[in-house]
Parts: sequence; structure tokens; C-alpha cells
Amino acid sequence: MAREVRRRRTFAIISHPDAGKSTMTEALALHARMISEAGAIHGKAGRKSTVSDWMEMEKARGISVSSTALQFNYTPSGSPAAPPDDPDATYVINLVDTPGHADFSEDTYRVLTAVDAAVMLIDAAKGLEPQTLKLFQVCRHRGIPVITVINKWDRPGQTPLELIDEITERIGLIPTPLLLPVGIAGDFRGLLDRRTGEYVAFTRTAGGAKIAPEEIMDADAASAREGGEWESALEESELLSEMGQDHDQEMFLAGQTSPMIFASAMLNFGVRQLLEALVALAPAPSGRASVSGDVRVPTDPFSAVVFKVQAGMDTSHRDRLAFMRIVSGEFERGMVVTHAQTGKPFATKYAQAVFGRDRSTVDRAYPGDVVGLVNAMTLAPGDSLFTGPKVQFPPIPSFAPEHFSSLRATTADKYKQFRKGMDQLDSEGVVQVLRNDLRGDMAPVLAAVGPMQFEVVTARLKSEFNVDTVIEGLGYSLARRTDEASAAELNRQRGVEVFTRTDGALLALFSDKWRLQFVEKEHPELTLDPLVAAA
Ligand code: G4P
Repeated sequence: MAREVRRRRTFAIISHPDAGKSTMTEALALHARMISEAGAIHGKAGRKSTVSDWMEMEKARGISVSSTALQFNYTPSGSPAAPPDDPDATYVINLVDTPGHADFSEDTYRVLTAVDAAVMLIDAAKGLEPQTLKLFQVCRHRGIPVITVINKWDRPGQTPLELIDEITERIGLIPTPLLLPVGIAGDFRGLLDRRTGEYVAFTRTAGGAKIAPEEIMDADAASAREGGEWESALEESELLSEMGQDHDQEMFLAGQTSPMIFASAMLNFGVRQLLEALVALAPAPSGRASVSGDVRVPTDPFSAVVFKVQAGMDTSHRDRLAFMRIVSGEFERGMVVTHAQTGKPFATKYAQAVFGRDRSTVDRAYPGDVVGLVNAMTLAPGDSLFTGPKVQFPPIPSFAPEHFSSLRATTADKYKQFRKGMDQLDSEGVVQVLRNDLRGDMAPVLAAVGPMQFEVVTARLKSEFNVDTVIEGLGYSLARRTDEASAAELNRQRGVEVFTRTDGALLALFSDKWRLQFVEKEHPELTLDPLVAAA
């Protein structure tokens, strides 16, 4: 058991759309020899059809709304020659997918509660972009260590020192490059390994479809071959060492520094180096504190946290999948576990691994692994499952919504279905549902982190509950948590309305920040607390 835990790494890639997350995912799968040629999972032509197509909307946009997990084995090159399934030489890597589309949703944040590390993928030309920043803040908030990858080094971009400065100055994370590029952005020749002083020279393959051959040489050979380019990489490395920017494992795990790698996901340069860094530096699964404060450690009896629930992924089955991340113990398909929230038994007969369209049955899994439970009608994000001594993990925080709309059924006679559908989507955490007496049950207000969550609601109410609905924008743009004592006064204010969220929290919505500031100034006695903000 301890060995299974030790060899596992569970991580997510955080990036802005177009930084190359899909390409990098595919490159990792190529290096782990899951696929023999790039283009199979996320290739240009195949991309639209290979992403999960659980909803027509997804297909139309060519995006994946779902987040799932890719598991692969990886044997580091330093390992003794051993059969790939020898558990002593092989690592098991879980890459949990974050939805990459421009419209943000709460799912993206929830995924980060299921990982032990993150890879922050940055476009060499664009530097830090808004969504990367938001996701990074969640990692920081949760204490998730971050490895930084500068991608697209085969294209013109900024210099390594410019990128390092930008990251240090804007987010206070200190990059400690493990490898520096030889050749400026746009002329990617190889990598200087700062730990060994060696040079890794890459050779391109046609279309980047195969693993790029590497040649490892010492400094003299590198200098003879690359001349000035090698010398400038060395100078940069020395400068960084003088500034104290060498890898320090403790500071990395504390979230203060970030090991950095330069790569081209498209050419498969630097991808092996990323895998090796994950294996060598990213933490193996560790314990998780329960609501009572005890820590469940990986070798304890089975426990898991549901971090995502998704329905209708497969239109021919109309199923509901709950994705759990195993915290402790061994999972065996068919075992009966207890659902901490209801105290009821839950049979795990149908356990699956899901990535994109592919599903396969999972018979056994260990801490760090992600398992999809089919027809998990009672499970919601944040729920705990266990065997042995009871454990309940803290709920996943819901993040501050920034978009508010009212939802209305266009046919009045579908009350029952509407109500049922709303309860279902609410329990899955698709959106936050807010109600008040003034608007009544048939016109709830939906609150979301990203507007795409609204589209998911209307599409699913139509396809699963046969109810036509319309979404109407509301003139509110921010929310504060309030209390009973403040509610009446707040409701008297112009541009303010108070709602009850399903979990019982009272939320006051404000038209804009000036309205909020005005009310705060006029009525300092009112309770107006910020919600957990991701960024
Ligand atoms: P995403 O999942 O983060 O949104 O990014 P994705 O991998 O889809 O990559 C976005 C675009 O960037 C794609 O080009 C992809 O080929 C390109 N790209 C990714 N990594 C690299 C890299 O290392 N070097 C270079 N030069 N390009 C890279 P596209 O033109 O938008 O799409 P496509 O038609 O090429 O697929």
C-alpha cells in the first residue's frame, strides 16, 4: 500500500486557453507511451470529435465542458531497465483535466481540490494571462505546489529572464529553472540542465508526431556545438544562482518557489524533463484533514472525496457520473462504502476511468487516483465516502459568483419537471441557486462563476427534463454574504436584493461596486462579508 502511494503523482495543468494544454497532454501521453503518435487524442483534425460530447452545446463549440482524468504509467529514464509494469520502477501519473474554455466555471476550481500539484503552462510570447492567474490564486489558496512550464519555445517570444521577472513581480512566485533553453525563443536547440551542467540537444521529428530524439553531452561538447547560444544559457544560469534561484524542495512545497522548464509541446521538446520533474519533485498523495480535525493518511482504510458530478455525458445512457479522488486505502470495484453525508451505503459496482470519450472499468485504485462512479444519484461535489471509521472531509468552498441571471420556464404547466430539474442541477453544483419570496419558486436566480454555467442549465433542463427555459440577465454584478438582521434594510436599498442560497446562506446582490460602497458607507452596521473569492 505504501508503495502504491509513493509511486503516485496527481496533478492538473493550469493555463489560459491556447497556451497548449491539449497539446501538452498529448505529448505527455506520447512520452508515457500511451499513444505511439501525437494526433491521436487531441490532434488537429480529431480534436473536435474526440473531446467529450455529452452535450450538443459542447460539440457546437468544439470544447470540453467536462473534466476527467488521464492515468498513465511512467518509468523515469534513470530507473533500472525493468518491465513497464514493475511497481518499483514505474510511477502512476494521474492528470486531472481542467476545462480549458474561455468561459470559466466552478468546475475548474473544484478540480484543483483533487490534485497534489499543478503545472502552470505559459505561452512564451504571451506570458501570464488572466485565467492562469485566477487558477494560480486557487493553487496558492489551497497550498498546491506549482511547476512552471514555458511552452512554445519554438516560436518567437520573450527572454527567459523577462518571463522569470514577470512571474516574480506579478504573483510573487519565484521561478527556479531546472533547465534553461539553449537558443532564443524561436530557435529552440536544446536545454541546459542546471543540476548536472549537461546539455540535452533535441532533434525535430516530422510534425512533432514522435518523441524527439535527445542527445546528452557535456559542457565542452555543448560549447563546441552551440557556441554563443550555450554561453548565454550558462550566463543566465549563473546569474540565477547568484540571485538564489536554484531549486529548493522545501520552498517549492511551501509554494514560495516554482521549478521551471522550457518546452515545446508541439515538438515534444522538454516533455520528458517535465515528467521527470513531476516524479522527482511533486509530492505523492498525503493525508487530508477531516471536519473533526483528524487527518486521514493514505494507508488508512478507504476514503474519498467527490469533486465533480456530471450527468448526461453519454446521451445513449443518460447516466450521472460522480468523480471521486481517493484519499486513503485501497478501492476495489464492487466494495460497499458509506456516504458520509447521508450515512447510507453506496455500492461501487460500476466504477470507471474516463478521459474524453473513452471509458474503461476500474477494478482497483489507490490514493491519488480518480474514479468515476456511474449512476451516483445521491452524490454531490464535496461529499465523502469511506469504509471503516467514519470520516467526513470539509466541503469544497463555493467560489464568489460574478454572473447572475434569472431563469424562467416558458411553459407554466411544467412546474413539477422544472422544480425537479432545478433541484437536480442544484445538488450537482452546476450553478448556485438563489431564491426569495418576491420572485417565487418559478423564477429563481442563478449565480455562476462563468456564464457558460447558465447555458448548461438551460440545455440540460431541455434535454433531461423536457422544460423550455429562458435566461434573463439581471442588473447585478457582485454578491456579499449577509444575515437576517441586515436583510430588511438591504432590501430597502436601491440596486440591492437579498436571496437565500440552497445551503441557507443569505446573499445580498449589488448592481455594482459603487452601490456596495455607498451602502457600506451609509450603513456601517450591516453585515456584508466577501464570499470566498478564487482570485
Ligand atoms: P489549449 O488546449 O491550451 O487551448 O491549447 P492547444 O493545445 O489547443 O494549443 C493551442 C494552439 O497552440 C494550437 O494551434 C497548437 O497547435 C499550438 N501549440 C501548442 N503547443 C505549441 C508549441 O509548443 N509550439 C507551437 N508553435 N505551437 C503550439 P492552433 O493553430 O490553434 O490549432 P491547430 O490547428 O494547430 O491545432
